[in-house]
This record gives sequence, C-alpha cells and structure tokens, in this order.
Amino acid sequence: MVSTDSSGVPRHIACVMDGNGRWAQQQGLPRIEGHKQGEHALFEAVEGALELGVEWLTVYAFSTENWRRPADEVKFLINFNEDILLRRQQELHDRGVQIRFVGRRDWRVPKRLIKRMNEATELTKDNTKLVFTIAFNYGGQAEIVDAVKQLITEGVPADKVDEKAIASRLYDPQMPPVDLMVRTSGEYRISNFLLWELAYSELYFTETLWPDFTRDHLHQAVADFQQRARRYGGV
Ligand code: IPE
Ligand code: IPE
Ligand code: MG
Repeated sequence: MVSTDSSGVPRHIACVMDGNGRWAQQQGLPRIEGHKQGEHALFEAVEGALELGVEWLTVYAFSTENWRRPADEVKFLINFNEDILLRRQQELHDRGVQIRFVGRRDWRVPKRLIKRMNEATELTKDNTKLVFTIAFNYGGQAEIVDAVKQLITEGVPADKVDEKAIASRLYDPQMPPVDLMVRTSGEYRISNFLLWELAYSELYFTETLWPDFTRDHLHQAVADFQQRARRYGGV
C-alpha cells in the first residue's frame, strides 16, 4: 500500500466514477455489466476514505446529461442505484457513514427513488465517520441555476449577491470545497461535476477504469495530492 501522511489528508474527495461501459466492452459484456461491477469499486472508495480519515466523499453517480443515454441504460441506472441503496445502506450505517444526496430532485427522478434517498439520509443522519454524498441527477450548472433561482424567489437584491449568498443556496450548503477530484478512465474533463465546489480543487486523473478502482488507487491519489502546493491565488 502507498504510504500517506495522515496530517495532509484531503478533507473532501470527489470521484467521477467513469469507464464502466468501456470496462464491460473490454470483457465482451453489455455496458450494464460494467455498472454492476462498479458497485465493488464504489465500496472500495468508501473503505479507502474511512481508512484515510477523509471527512467527505462525494461520488458522481448520474448526471443531468446522462438522460441522453439509451432508455434501457437510463432505466437500469435508476433501478440499480435504488437497489444498491436498499441492499447496502445498513452496512454503511453500521460503518458510521452518513449518506447524503445532491442533485435535482423535482425533475425526472422517480418519486419512489426520492423516498429511498430520504430514508437513507434519515437512517444515517447522526453518523460522524464520513459524509458520503451521492450526486444523482446532478449537474454543476443546474446547481448554480437553482441557487440563482432561489435568490430571485427570495427577492435578494443584487448588491447582496456574493459568493456566500450563492454557496448557502447550493444543494448541500454544508458541503465543504473539494480538495481532491479523482476521475478514472483517462478522460481529462469535469463533465459538469461540482463546478462551484471544485474551484480550488486539485485534480487527479488515472487511466484505471472505474470497475478496477480499489482503495489502493485512492491512497495513490492522496499521496499525489500531498505533493502538491496549493496557493489559492497567493504566492
Ligand atoms: C460511468 O461509466 C458511469 C456513469 C456515467 C453512470 P460510463 O457508463 O460513462 O462508462 P464509459 O465512459 O462509457 O466507459
Ligand atoms: C460523468 O461521466 C458522469 C458520471 C460519472 C455519472 P460521463 O461518462 O457521463 O461523462 P462524459 O460524457 O464522458 O463527459
Ligand atoms: Mg463515461
């Protein structure tokens, strides 16, 4: 295992879980088999975060753009996310993990899934080991649009609109800025993930496809992060 310095552990890691389809293709399997295999990697990431003492782990499970996929894949992803929640929320609860969600709730997501999300959040709300946030029906631009709509609805005057005013109206105002963003599968882009929260994040890209991702890969990403000099615009 890669050694990491416990003092410089990122408080918030965000993962773009990418490459499920290509993983399946490489095995000669249908794309959904890649998503199924991705469940193991997801729990590896959670275990890695727990081992490292990361406080916040956020994963991109379904984007506002993923609705463009073939209907059967969309349907699979929605049902699969519900299925994972039902099968594994107790285990996360037992591990002291708090489950949260970010994303558009009032648009396209089946009511039944919203209900499951609320139940998982309610069950785990007092846990303190790790805040595990699932970005579902999430888009970074949509999140900012929704925050701006909220400001207008509240009648906030223009001279009162600042970074704090927007940040406090994002899907989860308690979510801290992302320290480290990890994307698998050799794609070097953000794909509309956490645009606001990523402002000063360190970015880490790996060729590993998401279904092959393990806690060791997370340790590796953190070790890399620990070599970076974060300046926030200063010197
Ligand atoms: C990531 O894997 C999972 C989701 C976007 C839901 P992909 O399905 O994007 O896999 P590739 O990028 O096609 O290989
Ligand atoms: C980003 O992956 C979304 C998720 C991981 C849920 P995509 O595979 O959808 O991103 P693009 O289309 O390659 O940018
Ligand atoms: Mg992809």
